[in-house]
Amino acid sequence: MDPKISDSVWYIGADDCELDLFESQYPIPQGVSYNSYVILDEKVAVMDTIDRRRTDAWLENLEKVLDGRKPDYLIVSHMEPDHAYNIGLLADRYPEMKLVGNAKTFPMLSRFFDLDLTGRQVTVAEGDTLSLGRHTLTFYMAPMVHWPEVMVTYESTEKLLFSADAFGKFGALEGSDPNWVPEARRYYFNIVGKYGVQAQALLKKAAGLDIAKILPLHGPVLEGNLTPYVEKYQLWSSYEPETSGVALAYCSVYGNTAQAAQLLRELLEAAGVEVASFDLARCDLSQAVEAAFRYDRLVLAAPTYDGGIFPPMDDFLAHLKSKNFQRRKVGLIENGSWAPMSGKLMAEKLAGMKDITVLEPKVTVSSAVKAETETALRALAEALAQ
Ligand code: FEO
Repeated sequence: MDPKISDSVWYIGADDCELDLFESQYPIPQGVSYNSYVILDEKVAVMDTIDRRRTDAWLENLEKVLDGRKPDYLIVSHMEPDHAYNIGLLADRYPEMKLVGNAKTFPMLSRFFDLDLTGRQVTVAEGDTLSLGRHTLTFYMAPMVHWPEVMVTYESTEKLLFSADAFGKFGALEGSDPNWVPEARRYYFNIVGKYGVQAQALLKKAAGLDIAKILPLHGPVLEGNLTPYVEKYQLWSSYEPETSGVALAYCSVYGNTAQAAQLLRELLEAAGVEVASFDLARCDLSQAVEAAFRYDRLVLAAPTYDGGIFPPMDDFLAHLKSKNFQRRKVGLIENGSWAPMSGKLMAEKLAGMKDITVLEPKVTVSSAVKAETETALRALAEALAQ
């Protein structure tokens, strides 16, 4: 990516293609970018720092852009360490630089750093402005997108929205799939998905701004026609499904539950229904979570294990619950060789989520797929296809 965003605004972030798991849980086969920007004007503002893993590259980029100047302000949009790790380093290096955050930023900052910010702390609130000269920054609070202290910054001269985690995506800037949607969707549902209401509130604020470019903290700068990006965020944050079809999440100890899931898949596809299947013991769970939100129907298939739900499915359900999964039709397939319990227990977990309709029939595999299982699967496929 060209680091020059305009004559005054520069990208100084860095790609990380060596990190195995983002947030120590999400595979990122295409890497990730930690974004940071500089605005050069009468005053110089640095927009966030980056993760410790790429400190050297970031500092090199920063010094090149500063070309001997010193930053007057560090704008702290978000205190999560992938963006905030180098606040201490920057504050020490430039003792005259002021730190700009909101009322929730500084208490959090003091938990991460031992910094004396006497005379250096600028606390802003909703709608406050900061002039850099030709550029004026206006701050808008975006609590829980994705931590409580998150704020976004609008620069009115060039019409730039520094959007923090919103509109971010997985994938390094160099060499990853240029199609924004798939990795932005996986990022949204796994990182921000729990906070749909708060994301909607931010979109409402953004709708009142004339925006030419969106500059997130991960992924590419968005420019040109921004409507498709905003529409995706409207859709995802509303919990409305994006695609007609079935996400089929299964796990299987000896292959019998997998066989039932495969048979259901074939029946659905024969009925013209799009199906995306996930073996929960082997897949990247974040993709299964993303698909559960993406499609309008979900099927869960799991054996009974130690009197409970086979752990890969239990884990998946915990992820769905924590991400506020809601408003979907769900089909259930259980398996058990002497006391099948997983269907009942999965239904109980789904009852703790909002507006979930469990379809009939619930299918029980009694050890292996038999003729009566196929009959029940046909009935479930019909219910799902309606
Ligand atoms: Fe990339 Fe919520 O931080």
